[in-house]
Amino acid sequence: MDERDPSTSGGTCRLSTTEAYHRQEIDGLGWELTVCNSLHPAGTPMRRVLEKDASYGHLLYDHLSRFMPLMDMTSILEIGAGYGYLMKDFLERNPGLRPCLMDISPALLGKQRETLAGHDVSYVLQDALEADAATLQRFELVILNENLGDFPTAVDVDHRVFEDREGSGDLPWRICRLFDTYNLEISQTPFNVNLGALEMVEKLCSSEVPRIFIGEHSCEAALPPALKPYIPLAFDGNPRRIRLKGHDEYTIKFSHLRRIAEYYGYRTVRGPFADYIVPNITEELKAIFATRGLYCDSEEMIYHFIGDLYEYEYLVMMKEGDRR
Ligand SMILES: C[S@@+](CC[C@H](N)C(=O)[O-])C[C@H]1O[C@@H](n2cnc3c(N)ncnc32)[C@H](O)[C@@H]1O
Repeated sequence: MDERDPSTSGGTCRLSTTEAYHRQEIDGLGWELTVCNSLHPAGTPMRRVLEKDASYGHLLYDHLSRFMPLMDMTSILEIGAGYGYLMKDFLERNPGLRPCLMDISPALLGKQRETLAGHDVSYVLQDALEADAATLQRFELVILNENLGDFPTAVDVDHRVFEDREGSGDLPWRICRLFDTYNLEISQTPFNVNLGALEMVEKLCSSEVPRIFIGEHSCEAALPPALKPYIPLAFDGNPRRIRLKGHDEYTIKFSHLRRIAEYYGYRTVRGPFADYIVPNITEELKAIFATRGLYCDSEEMIYHFIGDLYEYEYLVMMKEGDRR
Protein backbone atom coordinates (compact mmCIF):
# COMPACT_ATOMS: atom_id res chain seq x y z
CA MET A 1 0.00 0.00 0.00
CA ASP A 2 2.83 2.42 0.59
CA GLU A 3 4.53 3.43 -2.60
CA ARG A 4 7.92 5.08 -2.68
CA ASP A 5 7.76 8.00 -5.06
CA PRO A 6 10.79 7.45 -7.25
CA SER A 7 10.61 10.96 -8.64
CA THR A 8 11.38 12.66 -5.35
CA SER A 9 15.02 13.50 -5.03
CA GLY A 10 16.68 14.86 -1.90
CA GLY A 11 13.75 15.01 0.53
CA THR A 12 11.58 12.03 1.37
CA CYS A 13 8.01 11.79 0.22
CA ARG A 14 5.76 8.83 -0.32
CA LEU A 15 2.13 8.17 -0.94
CA SER A 16 0.02 5.92 1.30
CA THR A 17 -3.14 4.70 -0.38
CA THR A 18 -5.93 2.29 0.54
CA GLU A 19 -7.24 1.92 -3.00
CA ALA A 20 -6.25 -1.70 -3.63
CA TYR A 21 -7.52 -2.71 -0.20
CA HIS A 22 -10.94 -1.15 -0.73
CA ARG A 23 -11.29 -2.32 -4.33
CA GLN A 24 -10.17 -5.91 -3.83
CA GLU A 25 -9.72 -7.08 -0.25
CA ILE A 26 -12.33 -5.61 2.07
CA ASP A 27 -15.35 -7.78 2.80
CA GLY A 28 -16.86 -5.82 5.70
CA LEU A 29 -16.18 -3.28 8.42
CA GLY A 30 -16.56 -5.64 11.39
CA TRP A 31 -13.03 -5.09 12.70
CA GLU A 32 -13.27 -1.33 12.09
CA LEU A 33 -15.99 -0.03 14.38
CA THR A 34 -17.02 3.36 13.05
CA VAL A 35 -18.92 5.77 15.30
CA CYS A 36 -21.91 5.31 12.99
CA ASN A 37 -21.83 1.52 13.35
CA SER A 38 -21.22 1.79 17.14
CA LEU A 39 -24.74 3.20 17.50
CA HIS A 40 -26.38 0.43 15.50
CA PRO A 41 -28.65 -1.39 16.30
CA ALA A 42 -30.85 -0.14 19.14
CA GLY A 43 -29.71 -1.47 22.53
CA THR A 44 -25.94 -1.21 21.96
CA PRO A 45 -24.05 -0.22 25.17
CA MET A 46 -22.86 3.05 23.60
CA ARG A 47 -26.40 4.37 23.19
CA ARG A 48 -26.99 3.92 26.91
CA VAL A 49 -24.52 6.69 27.81
CA LEU A 50 -25.99 9.34 25.50
CA GLU A 51 -28.39 12.12 26.35
CA LYS A 52 -30.51 10.96 23.42
CA ASP A 53 -30.78 7.24 22.67
CA ALA A 54 -30.73 7.29 18.86
CA SER A 55 -28.71 6.00 15.93
CA TYR A 56 -26.02 8.04 14.20
CA GLY A 57 -28.02 9.16 11.17
CA HIS A 58 -30.87 10.48 13.30
CA LEU A 59 -28.51 12.45 15.53
CA LEU A 60 -26.72 13.87 12.49
CA TYR A 61 -30.00 14.69 10.75
CA ASP A 62 -31.14 16.72 13.78
CA HIS A 63 -27.81 18.55 13.92
CA LEU A 64 -27.63 19.38 10.20
CA SER A 65 -31.25 20.58 10.29
CA ARG A 66 -30.03 23.48 12.40
CA PHE A 67 -28.08 24.76 9.39
CA MET A 68 -29.95 23.60 6.28
CA PRO A 69 -33.49 22.65 5.12
CA LEU A 70 -33.04 18.85 4.98
CA MET A 71 -36.80 18.26 4.83
CA ASP A 72 -36.99 20.13 1.50
CA MET A 73 -34.15 18.21 -0.17
CA THR A 74 -34.39 15.35 -2.63
CA SER A 75 -30.89 14.85 -4.06
CA ILE A 76 -28.17 13.82 -1.62
CA LEU A 77 -24.88 12.14 -2.45
CA GLU A 78 -23.21 10.03 0.21
CA ILE A 79 -19.63 9.07 -0.56
CA GLY A 80 -18.20 6.00 1.19
CA ALA A 81 -21.36 4.97 3.03
CA GLY A 82 -20.03 1.70 4.52
CA TYR A 83 -23.09 -0.35 5.49
CA GLY A 84 -25.57 2.40 4.55
CA TYR A 85 -26.97 2.94 8.07
CA LEU A 86 -26.68 6.73 7.97
CA MET A 87 -28.75 6.96 4.80
CA LYS A 88 -31.33 4.52 6.16
CA ASP A 89 -31.92 6.93 9.04
CA PHE A 90 -32.08 9.91 6.69
CA LEU A 91 -34.73 8.12 4.61
CA GLU A 92 -36.78 7.47 7.74
CA ARG A 93 -36.75 11.20 8.43
CA ASN A 94 -37.33 12.34 4.85
CA PRO A 95 -38.90 9.60 2.66
CA GLY A 96 -38.85 12.07 -0.26
CA LEU A 97 -35.06 11.77 -0.56
CA ARG A 98 -33.63 10.20 -3.72
CA PRO A 99 -30.08 9.48 -2.55
CA CYS A 100 -27.08 8.42 -4.56
CA LEU A 101 -24.36 6.33 -2.88
CA MET A 102 -20.87 6.36 -4.39
CA ASP A 103 -18.23 3.93 -3.18
CA ILE A 104 -14.88 2.57 -4.36
CA SER A 105 -15.62 -0.83 -2.82
CA PRO A 106 -17.86 -3.31 -4.67
CA ALA A 107 -18.27 -5.33 -1.44
CA LEU A 108 -19.48 -2.36 0.62
CA LEU A 109 -21.71 -1.12 -2.17
CA GLY A 110 -23.33 -4.58 -1.98
CA LYS A 111 -23.92 -4.14 1.80
CA GLN A 112 -25.47 -0.72 1.13
CA ARG A 113 -27.88 -2.29 -1.37
CA GLU A 114 -28.94 -4.83 1.28
CA THR A 115 -29.47 -2.18 3.98
CA LEU A 116 -31.43 0.11 1.67
CA ALA A 117 -33.42 -2.55 -0.22
CA GLY A 118 -36.88 -1.25 -1.13
CA HIS A 119 -35.80 2.40 -1.27
CA ASP A 120 -35.32 4.48 -4.40
CA VAL A 121 -31.53 4.79 -4.23
CA SER A 122 -28.92 4.86 -7.01
CA TYR A 123 -25.45 3.37 -6.61
CA VAL A 124 -22.17 4.31 -8.29
CA LEU A 125 -19.03 2.19 -8.10
CA GLN A 126 -16.34 4.84 -8.38
CA ASP A 127 -13.36 6.40 -6.66
CA ALA A 128 -14.84 9.72 -5.53
CA LEU A 129 -11.61 11.46 -6.50
CA GLU A 130 -12.47 10.65 -10.11
CA ALA A 131 -16.03 12.04 -9.99
CA ASP A 132 -16.55 14.94 -12.37
CA ALA A 133 -17.88 18.38 -11.53
CA ALA A 134 -21.06 17.93 -13.60
CA THR A 135 -21.99 14.86 -11.52
CA LEU A 136 -21.26 16.50 -8.17
CA GLN A 137 -23.11 19.71 -9.03
CA ARG A 138 -26.41 17.84 -9.27
CA PHE A 139 -26.59 17.31 -5.50
CA GLU A 140 -27.96 19.64 -2.85
CA LEU A 141 -25.80 18.04 -0.16
CA VAL A 142 -22.73 15.77 -0.26
CA ILE A 143 -21.86 13.71 2.85
CA LEU A 144 -18.48 12.11 3.58
CA ASN A 145 -18.64 10.40 6.97
CA GLU A 146 -15.55 8.69 8.37
CA ASN A 147 -13.80 8.08 5.09
CA LEU A 148 -11.48 10.96 4.17
CA GLY A 149 -8.82 9.30 6.35
CA ASP A 150 -8.83 6.49 3.76
CA PHE A 151 -8.01 8.84 0.90
CA PRO A 152 -4.37 9.03 -0.26
CA THR A 153 -1.92 10.66 2.17
CA ALA A 154 1.54 12.04 1.39
CA VAL A 155 3.76 10.78 4.17
CA ASP A 156 7.11 12.03 5.55
CA VAL A 157 7.15 15.19 3.47
CA ASP A 158 10.05 17.50 4.30
CA HIS A 159 10.77 21.13 3.42
CA ARG A 160 12.96 20.31 0.47
CA VAL A 161 9.81 19.43 -1.42
CA PHE A 162 9.14 23.19 -1.68
CA GLU A 163 12.69 24.12 -2.63
CA ASP A 164 13.35 21.78 -5.53
CA ARG A 165 10.19 22.09 -7.61
CA GLU A 166 11.62 22.21 -11.09
CA GLY A 167 11.79 18.73 -12.49
CA SER A 168 10.20 17.23 -9.36
CA GLY A 169 7.65 14.49 -9.89
CA ASP A 170 3.90 14.42 -9.73
CA LEU A 171 3.57 13.92 -5.97
CA PRO A 172 5.73 16.91 -4.87
CA TRP A 173 4.05 19.02 -7.53
CA ARG A 174 0.58 18.17 -6.19
CA ILE A 175 1.64 19.06 -2.65
CA CYS A 176 3.26 22.38 -3.67
CA ARG A 177 0.26 23.38 -5.77
CA LEU A 178 -2.15 22.95 -2.83
CA PHE A 179 0.11 24.72 -0.32
CA ASP A 180 0.71 27.64 -2.72
CA THR A 181 -2.88 28.05 -3.91
CA TYR A 182 -4.50 27.94 -0.48
CA ASN A 183 -1.63 29.38 1.54
CA LEU A 184 -1.55 26.33 3.84
CA GLU A 185 0.86 26.55 6.74
CA ILE A 186 3.51 23.94 7.46
CA SER A 187 3.96 22.89 11.06
CA GLN A 188 6.82 20.57 11.86
CA THR A 189 8.92 18.66 9.37
CA PRO A 190 8.73 15.97 8.21
CA PHE A 191 4.96 16.13 8.07
CA ASN A 192 2.05 14.27 6.50
CA VAL A 193 -0.41 15.80 4.06
CA ASN A 194 -4.03 14.64 3.58
CA LEU A 195 -3.53 14.95 -0.16
CA GLY A 196 -6.65 13.05 -1.27
CA ALA A 197 -8.86 14.77 1.32
CA LEU A 198 -7.62 18.20 0.23
CA GLU A 199 -8.13 17.39 -3.45
CA MET A 200 -11.61 16.00 -2.71
CA VAL A 201 -12.69 19.15 -0.83
CA GLU A 202 -11.19 21.28 -3.59
CA LYS A 203 -13.15 19.30 -6.18
CA LEU A 204 -16.44 19.65 -4.26
CA CYS A 205 -15.97 23.36 -3.55
CA SER A 206 -14.78 24.30 -7.04
CA SER A 207 -17.81 22.39 -8.41
CA GLU A 208 -19.98 24.68 -6.25
CA VAL A 209 -21.81 21.89 -4.42
CA PRO A 210 -24.07 24.00 -2.16
CA ARG A 211 -23.61 22.01 1.06
CA ILE A 212 -20.97 19.54 2.20
CA PHE A 213 -20.65 17.56 5.43
CA ILE A 214 -17.41 15.88 6.47
CA GLY A 215 -16.80 13.87 9.65
CA GLU A 216 -13.52 12.10 10.45
CA HIS A 217 -10.72 11.49 12.99
CA SER A 218 -8.95 14.79 13.55
CA CYS A 219 -5.30 15.58 14.31
CA GLU A 220 -6.32 18.95 15.77
CA ALA A 221 -9.04 17.93 18.22
CA ALA A 222 -9.25 19.09 21.84
CA LEU A 223 -10.65 17.28 24.87
CA PRO A 224 -12.82 19.21 27.32
CA PRO A 225 -10.83 19.96 30.52
CA ALA A 226 -13.04 17.64 32.62
CA LEU A 227 -12.02 14.62 30.50
CA LYS A 228 -8.31 15.37 30.12
CA PRO A 229 -7.24 13.49 33.28
CA TYR A 230 -9.02 10.34 32.09
CA ILE A 231 -8.44 10.12 28.35
CA PRO A 232 -4.80 10.23 27.26
CA LEU A 233 -5.18 11.79 23.81
CA ALA A 234 -2.67 14.27 22.41
CA PHE A 235 -3.06 16.12 19.13
CA ASP A 236 -0.03 17.75 17.51
CA GLY A 237 -1.63 18.96 14.27
CA ASN A 238 0.21 16.42 12.10
CA PRO A 239 -2.00 13.72 10.48
CA ARG A 240 -1.36 10.56 12.50
CA ARG A 241 -1.12 7.06 11.09
CA ILE A 242 -3.76 4.60 12.29
CA ARG A 243 -2.87 1.01 11.49
CA LEU A 244 -5.87 -1.12 10.59
CA LYS A 245 -6.40 -4.52 9.07
CA GLY A 246 -4.86 -4.47 5.59
CA HIS A 247 -4.45 -0.71 5.35
CA ASP A 248 -3.41 2.52 7.08
CA GLU A 249 -5.59 5.54 7.64
CA TYR A 250 -4.48 9.04 8.62
CA THR A 251 -6.20 11.55 10.88
CA ILE A 252 -7.34 14.74 9.17
CA LYS A 253 -6.02 18.28 9.48
CA PHE A 254 -9.36 20.06 9.46
CA SER A 255 -7.88 23.57 9.39
CA HIS A 256 -6.52 22.83 5.90
CA LEU A 257 -9.91 21.61 4.66
CA ARG A 258 -11.58 24.67 6.11
CA ARG A 259 -9.04 26.96 4.44
CA ILE A 260 -9.99 25.54 1.03
CA ALA A 261 -13.72 25.92 1.73
CA GLU A 262 -13.25 29.55 2.76
CA TYR A 263 -11.15 30.23 -0.35
CA TYR A 264 -14.20 29.22 -2.42
CA GLY A 265 -16.53 31.43 -0.35
CA TYR A 266 -18.14 28.78 1.87
CA ARG A 267 -19.47 29.51 5.35
CA THR A 268 -18.26 26.77 7.70
CA VAL A 269 -19.23 25.22 11.03
CA ARG A 270 -16.71 22.97 12.78
CA GLY A 271 -16.79 21.02 16.03
CA PRO A 272 -16.43 17.62 17.73
CA PHE A 273 -18.92 14.78 17.14
CA ALA A 274 -19.89 15.36 20.80
CA ASP A 275 -21.82 18.46 19.58
CA TYR A 276 -24.52 16.11 18.25
CA ILE A 277 -23.73 12.79 19.97
CA VAL A 278 -23.92 14.24 23.44
CA PRO A 279 -22.70 12.02 26.30
CA ASN A 280 -24.64 12.09 29.55
CA ILE A 281 -21.90 12.43 32.18
CA THR A 282 -23.42 10.41 35.03
CA GLU A 283 -21.68 8.96 38.09
CA GLU A 284 -21.63 5.59 36.28
CA LEU A 285 -19.83 7.15 33.29
CA LYS A 286 -17.36 8.90 35.59
CA ALA A 287 -16.59 5.51 37.19
CA ILE A 288 -15.93 4.07 33.71
CA PHE A 289 -13.51 6.97 32.99
CA ALA A 290 -11.76 6.47 36.32
CA THR A 291 -11.15 2.75 35.69
CA ARG A 292 -10.55 3.38 31.95
CA GLY A 293 -13.18 0.76 31.29
CA LEU A 294 -10.91 -2.06 32.38
CA TYR A 295 -13.53 -4.08 34.29
CA CYS A 296 -15.57 -5.41 31.39
CA ASP A 297 -15.73 -5.37 27.61
CA SER A 298 -18.77 -3.12 27.31
CA GLU A 299 -17.22 -0.52 29.66
CA GLU A 300 -14.00 -0.59 27.66
CA MET A 301 -16.00 0.01 24.48
CA ILE A 302 -17.82 2.91 26.13
CA TYR A 303 -14.55 4.42 27.36
CA HIS A 304 -13.04 4.43 23.86
CA PHE A 305 -16.30 5.58 22.31
CA ILE A 306 -16.43 8.67 24.54
CA GLY A 307 -12.84 9.49 23.51
CA ASP A 308 -13.89 9.14 19.86
CA LEU A 309 -16.69 11.68 20.32
CA TYR A 310 -13.98 14.30 20.90
CA GLU A 311 -11.28 12.91 18.61
CA TYR A 312 -13.68 12.97 15.65
CA GLU A 313 -14.53 16.36 14.20
CA TYR A 314 -17.05 17.51 11.65
CA LEU A 315 -17.02 20.33 9.15
CA VAL A 316 -20.17 21.69 7.51
CA MET A 317 -19.56 23.85 4.44
CA MET A 318 -22.36 25.96 3.00
CA LYS A 319 -22.25 28.04 -0.13
CA GLU A 320 -25.50 29.87 0.38
CA GLY A 321 -27.24 31.46 3.31
CA ASP A 322 -29.01 28.50 5.02
CA ARG A 323 -29.10 29.49 8.68
CA ARG A 324 -31.90 27.55 10.29
C1 LIG B 1 -14.40 3.51 7.34
S1 LIG B 1 -15.65 3.27 6.13
C2 LIG B 1 -16.90 4.41 6.72
C3 LIG B 1 -18.26 3.94 6.38
C4 LIG B 1 -19.43 4.81 6.85
N1 LIG B 1 -19.43 6.12 6.25
C5 LIG B 1 -19.49 4.89 8.36
O1 LIG B 1 -19.32 6.00 8.89
O2 LIG B 1 -19.69 3.86 9.00
C6 LIG B 1 -14.99 4.06 4.67
C7 LIG B 1 -15.89 4.00 3.45
O3 LIG B 1 -15.34 4.83 2.43
C8 LIG B 1 -15.20 4.09 1.22
N2 LIG B 1 -14.09 4.70 0.46
C9 LIG B 1 -12.78 4.72 0.78
N3 LIG B 1 -12.07 5.39 -0.15
C10 LIG B 1 -12.97 5.82 -1.09
C11 LIG B 1 -12.86 6.57 -2.30
N4 LIG B 1 -11.67 7.00 -2.74
N5 LIG B 1 -13.99 6.82 -3.02
C12 LIG B 1 -15.19 6.37 -2.58
N6 LIG B 1 -15.36 5.65 -1.45
C13 LIG B 1 -14.26 5.39 -0.70
C14 LIG B 1 -14.99 2.67 1.70
O4 LIG B 1 -15.22 1.72 0.72
C15 LIG B 1 -16.01 2.63 2.85
O5 LIG B 1 -17.34 2.45 2.37
